[in-house]
Amino acid sequence: MEVVIVPDAAAGGELIAGAVVDLLRRKPDALLGVATGSTPIPVYEALAATVRAGGVDVSQARVAQLDEYVGLPAGHPESYRSVVLREVVEPLGLSPDAFLGPDGAAHDVQAACEAYDKALAWAGGVDLQLLGIGTDGHIGFNEPCSSLASRTRIKTLTERTRRDNARFFGGDVDQVPHHVITQGIGTILDARHLVLLATGEGKADAVAATVEGPVAAIVPASALQLHPHATVVVDEAAASKLK
Ligand code: F6R
Repeated sequence: MEVVIVPDAAAGGELIAGAVVDLLRRKPDALLGVATGSTPIPVYEALAATVRAGGVDVSQARVAQLDEYVGLPAGHPESYRSVVLREVVEPLGLSPDAFLGPDGAAHDVQAACEAYDKALAWAGGVDLQLLGIGTDGHIGFNEPCSSLASRTRIKTLTERTRRDNARFFGGDVDQVPHHVITQGIGTILDARHLVLLATGEGKADAVAATVEGPVAAIVPASALQLHPHATVVVDEAAASKLK
């Protein structure tokens, strides 16, 4: 695992966008795994600026969601499908056909989870998976004590994560769904390159446990230590508890 400390979130966004651009120059139809939440926004903004400036051709690029809420009505602005369309697909000018995601409104959620793992494999696997990290060390929505070998499946969010995410639902924790579909940790580890971005002091404990603690299901992100090509990009605040 390599750890890169950058001065701030904008610098982290630039650095990771640069890695995505390099990948797309080598492999124009690369499959990018995209996280949602606040952390990756500087990456998507930097990438969109490069695309607008003609710095990279994204006409063949494809994106895949990491996770999705279960039970939000189709088109809900906070469904991760809507978020990825708004923050990634539209600003980069990608075709919505180039977009893979699990069906959070499926009647048979288990079948939707299995179908998503198959779809990722049929698409050739994720080339670069961008990850954020929860204050409790989750990646995707693999909460603490998730199996490190897990595949895409339904999970229950902890109250802490629902409180953390209430800001996307007008501050009302009761509006945050209880259930999600998430790529499992084993599914995430299948990606060829994992890039985790963490910014802000609130992530400092989780980052220290991920990078310097033992590999343990209680800190799902520690599974990155098992991956042959994992990069952790942290700003100075998120790095503040590293030894
Ligand atoms: C979102 C996701 C989550 C977030 C994490 C951090 O797709 O998979 O693991 O990355 O909850 O969220 P932010 O970036 O909002 O602090």
